[in-house]
Amino acid sequence: MIKKSTIDQVFETARVEEVIGDFVQLKKSGSNYKGLSPFSDERTPSFMVSPAKQIWKDFSSGKGGNVVAFVMEHEHFSYPEAIKYLAKKYGIEIEETQQTDEEKQQADERESMFLVSEFAKDFFKRMLHKTDQGKAIGLSYFKERGFTAETIQKFELGYSPDTWDALTAEALKKSYKLDYLEKTGLSIVKGEKQFDRFKGRVIFPIQSMSGRTLGFGGRILTNDKKAAKYLNSPESDIYHKSKVLYGIYFAKQAIAKEDACYLVEGYTDVIQLHQSGIENVVSSSGTALTTDQIRLIRRLTPNITILFDGDPAGLRASLRGVDLILEQGMNVKVCTFPEGEDPDSFAKKNTQEDIAAYINQQAKDVISFKASLLVDEAKNDPIKKAEAIRDMVSSIAKVPDNIQQEIYLQECARIMDISENVLYSSLAQLSAKNQRDQSKKSRQNTKPLQKVGEQQNQETRPKVNQQFQLERSIISLLLRYGNEEDEFEDFVLKADQDGNLDLEAETQNAKVYEKIFLDLQEDEIEFTHDAFKELYHKIIEEYSTNEQLKIDAFINKVSPEEASEMTSILMESERDVLHRWDDQDIFVKDKNELEPREVNETILNLRRFLIKKKVQELMQQVLEQKSTHHHEILVEVKEYKSLEIIIAQKLNRVI
Ligand code: CTP
Ligand code: MN
Repeated sequence: MIKKSTIDQVFETARVEEVIGDFVQLKKSGSNYKGLSPFSDERTPSFMVSPAKQIWKDFSSGKGGNVVAFVMEHEHFSYPEAIKYLAKKYGIEIEETQQTDEEKQQADERESMFLVSEFAKDFFKRMLHKTDQGKAIGLSYFKERGFTAETIQKFELGYSPDTWDALTAEALKKSYKLDYLEKTGLSIVKGEKQFDRFKGRVIFPIQSMSGRTLGFGGRILTNDKKAAKYLNSPESDIYHKSKVLYGIYFAKQAIAKEDACYLVEGYTDVIQLHQSGIENVVSSSGTALTTDQIRLIRRLTPNITILFDGDPAGLRASLRGVDLILEQGMNVKVCTFPEGEDPDSFAKKNTQEDIAAYINQQAKDVISFKASLLVDEAKNDPIKKAEAIRDMVSSIAKVPDNIQQEIYLQECARIMDISENVLYSSLAQLSAKNQRDQSKKSRQNTKPLQKVGEQQNQETRPKVNQQFQLERSIISLLLRYGNEEDEFEDFVLKADQDGNLDLEAETQNAKVYEKIFLDLQEDEIEFTHDAFKELYHKIIEEYSTNEQLKIDAFINKVSPEEASEMTSILMESERDVLHRWDDQDIFVKDKNELEPREVNETILNLRRFLIKKKVQELMQQVLEQKSTHHHEILVEVKEYKSLEIIIAQKLNRVI
């Protein structure tokens, strides 16, 4: 791991406006900078950088955060990669932490596996370009497939000599340990003997998102029917097939820029399309697509087009992966190629424009595609047709967006020639069943009352949003005025001479963060939204230990998710300013003025919300007859009800 002191130094040194300036042309605009969003194609600038707060916000995509978040977002780096990038830019030496022996050994082991893979990649390249056998067999094979010298270089293709242990012997000679050669699968160890796994094959190195060599695919060059056409590196500590997409390193910029990703089956499809100028393409390397792989794409775009070989047998099997993609809320299209063609052969024969035009024309949304396919298969067989309808409905049910679902249903009804009503009722049945299963599940996991807010079934979702807004407002108040002191009016219950209870105003001086902390603590309120939970405590701690909170320093102490939430909260008011500047230089009211009333109201609203929720939950228990303690529960409900009334009264007073 990178040492904390190094990370701190990176944060102290890196200036957000300088780092972003390498990628975006920034113009001064008041105390901020603005520019065109690097995450979308726009004409009017909606991208803002605040040098004072050391944060940035892209209003067109909603992204934002600190300097590290920008590098992660723009370059698609992991956190450590981003730190290393910045350290390099600012000439900061990277120190790694002392780890426990076990951690160290594990990290060392992974690092050694990376190193030996890097060595192997270079070795295979050298064999391809510098040996007679490599040139005669490997290089000529690639050339015959139509790969240019440039393409071969770019994808770092290689050749593994047709001798038993060429790589293994060379690696051992260079002091790489046999253990790591075996763990990466480069060598196969049998007793005293060692063999090269990829002997006599051309090599396709497989890169991670950040360009490290994780493993290899090796294609056979003979027509030996008994041997597999492709051999791949086995699963290892550095190569997890299900989490890797071939070509992602070369494609990530184009995918983000085009806001679309093509998914193909093989190594050569990726390479050939690249060579044609279509770079937003990755491959699942012949295996069924996994959720992790889909997430990898979703970080870059919600739009996937699957390019299928023109071989109908494989189609049905591949369609199974599609539900997974739909489930992730992504837009999926499919495009098939003429019989006997795959993207590789098609790309070889056509220009970039023709390929793009073909895909544009042929790509159908996956639901229509699947419906046509199934209806064809079922033709005059009513049983098959019923099955096909159920299959379609279950796919449509996976689509998270309701409007999209409806459109798909209509389309499906048209293609399969059945009434929309049948589809609707069958979808409704399925949804009801899913919901029953869901609530059964969530009931099994019921948590203590305090936490029921985390339950996210259909009925509570809108309320959870309200809670989210209230929690967000509290964070916003803390960030903007946490350290300011003011008079807060509170109302306490007092009995008058006749013993009637009434609210009486009391004013108290307090700092905003103290007021919020004490009030919330009284009710043992915990935040439910992940990004707010820890952030809240970090903010309170910062104020109470440092008596101040400097955004530019503080934002670097929080997680990327927290930084992103913080940024959107802070930049919201700046945005108005941006727009007005665009019109003319008019005076903008300073929003940053503390109003104690706002603080009181927000806290009371949150409390009232939570109490209402608790009452509902208790009533639900009574209705569902879950507990035999109805009486106790009802007493509790009554207590909460009167508390709710008091809070409502307080809110009225405040207003
Ligand atoms: N594949 C594999 N093992 C095999 C066959 C295929 O791992 N025995 C994977 C490879 O990643 C391959 C992909 O599945 O790229 C697609 O297979 P296929 O269509 O057979 O290969 P192509 O990429 O078309 O290979 P080529 O054009 O070189 O024949
Ligand atoms: Mn092929």
